[in-house]
Amino acid sequence: MTASSLSFPQQDAARRTSDADRARILAAPGFGEHFTDFMAHARWRRDGGWGDDEVVPFGPIRITPAAAVLHYAQEIFEGLKAFRHADGSVWTFRPEKNAERFAASARRLALPELTVEDFIASLKAVVAADEPWVPVVDETSEASLYLRPVMFASEEFLGVRAAHMADYYVIASPAGDYFPRGVQPLVVWVSESYARAGKGGTGQAKCGGNYASSLLGKYEAAEHGADEVLFLDSETHTAIDELSGMNVFAITKDGEIRTPALTGSILEGVTRSSILRLAEDRGLRPVETRLVMSEVLESLASGEIVEMFACGTAAVITPIGAFRFDGGEQVVGDGGSGEHTLALRRELTDIQYGRIEDRHGWLTRL
Ligand code: COI
Repeated sequence: MTASSLSFPQQDAARRTSDADRARILAAPGFGEHFTDFMAHARWRRDGGWGDDEVVPFGPIRITPAAAVLHYAQEIFEGLKAFRHADGSVWTFRPEKNAERFAASARRLALPELTVEDFIASLKAVVAADEPWVPVVDETSEASLYLRPVMFASEEFLGVRAAHMADYYVIASPAGDYFPRGVQPLVVWVSESYARAGKGGTGQAKCGGNYASSLLGKYEAAEHGADEVLFLDSETHTAIDELSGMNVFAITKDGEIRTPALTGSILEGVTRSSILRLAEDRGLRPVETRLVMSEVLESLASGEIVEMFACGTAAVITPIGAFRFDGGEQVVGDGGSGEHTLALRRELTDIQYGRIEDRHGWLTRL
């Protein structure tokens, strides 16, 4: 790995959260509700490249109402977690994958690229400043510090072109379970009305627009008593794309583990690719393919598909218990949490929290 060109010096050492307040938050962090004391920042200018790197107190930022991001959504982000191991050390999971995806998203959104080294340096800088915010866990609990790098077009300009100035931040938020009901099986609404991303669009990029376009679908899901929404491909409206912010997997009774192939409208999840590897290690046969929803429903009804789950950095691996759609409902297996699903989740988190050997070399010390 080459050296980082940005060093993110800490500008102000004042902590705003007392030890007592931090302990209270870490006891029940939820997801995305609380933020740490510091954030990393850097600015890119077309005529000078990246600079102004610093770690500053977390707080509101000043932005011109004419900033391109507010009008044309030129924005990308990432999601990673920092895990505390039993010896107190802090680690993150496959950050180079997130760095590469961030660079790919930047290219798609015509934003400047950050090097893998600078991306990882920014994570290290935030965690160094916010180390007390990384939760201590025991053998059975799961809590982490969620790291959210974000980059947006900050130039004051309303013409439609790639901005000449962009700002990059890494903020951090202590995280427990993503879903309010924890790792309980999800009820998933299959949206007939909306698609998440179209052919040639930005579905493969991790940009805010994809998530904005999922929100009405989430409303629709809630109206039908479901926890999540599943989007089908925009062209034929038959094949599974992904949920509002998670990839989808199905496991058959004869040991195949299927997930939608990367068609360009699906996010290439780091958790997704790790699961494909861990599943293969345990003798399941990974298949990346087109998953036609009607066929999946038939396979669930016939008992050919026995487990399904959602996955992502935030959601980790969360079982799917049932699909709801216009005109019916189809339970997955017995509606509970599948055996392989829970075993994969356990193995993934055991690696992340340093409870078992990191045999694939996926961890990076922060
Ligand atoms: C993540 O899993 O890290 C994401 O960015 C998805 C979002 C639903 C929280």
